[in-house]
Amino acid sequence: MSEAKIPVEGKVASKSHVEMTEMVLPQDTNYHGTVFGGRVLQWVDIAGAIASQRHARRKVVTASIDDMHFMIPICLGDTVILKAAVNYVHRTSMEVGVRIERESPTGDERQHAATAYLTYVALDDDGQPTSVPELIAETQEERRRMQNAVTRREFRLARKRALVSRRS
Ligand SMILES: CC(C)(COP(=O)(O)OP(=O)(O)OC[C@H]1O[C@@H](n2cnc3c(N)ncnc32)[C@H](O)[C@@H]1OP(=O)(O)O)[C@@H](O)C(=O)NCCC(=O)NCCS
Repeated sequence: MSEAKIPVEGKVASKSHVEMTEMVLPQDTNYHGTVFGGRVLQWVDIAGAIASQRHARRKVVTASIDDMHFMIPICLGDTVILKAAVNYVHRTSMEVGVRIERESPTGDERQHAATAYLTYVALDDDGQPTSVPELIAETQEERRRMQNAVTRREFRLARKRALVSRRS
């Protein structure tokens, strides 16, 4: 697509929030009873895709997933809560942050387990990247997330350029 950004009506960040809840079942765990990292990534990607599709009102693809650190184990029977929000949009791409919380089966205890940042690209009917609506940050927290996302985008794309140039 051309460099010129086609103006699209802005959309407030809160309109695309997603909250998803999963129960950790035997098929989600390894042989010592904690959840597979890949299963959490699957849930994260689903939550992120829904948030970005809500914002873009378009189908999206996952362009990249930033480094992700699992800070505490999540066990069989635990509840996993995923909260996704669009942090920043550029021309055709959107950064989504997903906060992952682990809750004890009785709901008495909740802990932050991980945070993931994913980039989605909106596609037009021909499967080509297409412009997305501006993101309107209404709160101080949303403005902070937006600023941090700009920094992450610079690092992410610099890293991609370095990898691509090393291969070519
Ligand atoms: C993501 C994809 C559409 C980008 O295509 P492209 O040819 O690089 O397109 P462009 O160069 O026009 O870039 C489009 C946008 O993607 C962004 N982008 C491309 N690669 C990226 C990456 N690795 N991380 C973050 N953003 C990326 C660009 O910055 C640009 O954003 P902007 O328009 O907001 O400035 C393409 O690489 C693709 O289809 N990848 C496969 C996606 C997929 O199948 N995902 C499922 C998981 S396997």
